[in-house]
Amino acid sequence: MNETMIHCQAVSKSYKKGNTLVTPLESLDLEVPAGEFLALMGPSGSGKTTLLNLLSGIDSPSSGKLVIHGTELSGLSRRDLTAWRARNVGYIFQLYHLIPVLTAFENVELPLLLSPLSKRDRHARVVAALDLVSLTDRMHHTPSELSGGQEQRVAIARALVADPPLLVADEPTGDLDRESANRILELLQQLARRHGKTIVMVTHDARAAAAADRTLHLEKGVLLENP
Ligand SMILES: Nc1ncnc2c1ncn2[C@@H]1O[C@H](COP(=O)(O)OP(=O)(O)OP(=O)(O)O)[C@@H](O)[C@H]1O
Ligand SMILES: [Mg+2]
Repeated sequence: MNETMIHCQAVSKSYKKGNTLVTPLESLDLEVPAGEFLALMGPSGSGKTTLLNLLSGIDSPSSGKLVIHGTELSGLSRRDLTAWRARNVGYIFQLYHLIPVLTAFENVELPLLLSPLSKRDRHARVVAALDLVSLTDRMHHTPSELSGGQEQRVAIARALVADPPLLVADEPTGDLDRESANRILELLQQLARRHGKTIVMVTHDARAAAAADRTLHLEKGVLLENP
């Protein structure tokens, strides 16, 4: 696979904090081919989450060029960016961010509620996504009735249900025991290898990073392959 999924060219991001300007990312270049599972490491505050937010169109760069899946994001209006995000990116969080009063099924269904799919097609997609993470037997349970690893698998199903080509994950195994973490990492590997998803995973854990095809280290706004 040699299609480019992520092309970042001289991307910078600054935030105003009172009177000072914080610049977590400065003139960053990054190229990720479609289907790659990339791990991103770096000290706290080095801009990892900031980068995921840019890659997923949640936030916009202060300067530079960002082309994801063939779309230059800076050319999109706020509204088009939201629509683009719904089709192109699934976001997986460390603490799952599931809605506690909804069942696993309903949590996964949520991103599809605004799509034009019929109820029957929507349900088929939700079941397929839950099947991919091996949780169809728990789909009518609420998050409090699931283990942490199961909650994270529901969150992965939710990120996948709209079939986006890009998945970004912010410390997806940070809150899990070793065994549950391994299961999540195997699942992410499978999503890249069998389903062709491009995955960018932030992690503090070198063992988690070892599951990826490549690891980059973010240090003071710069990406390094071998620090
Ligand atoms: N919305 C914001 N407003 C102001 N400053 C911000 C904002 N978001 C992030 N920052 C600053 O940008 C820098 C990078 O933050 P970021 O959250 O990307 O780091 P990180 O690498 O994800 O850290 P951690 O490993 O602790 O999650 C930090 O100095 C942070 O305080
Ligand atoms: Mg972070």
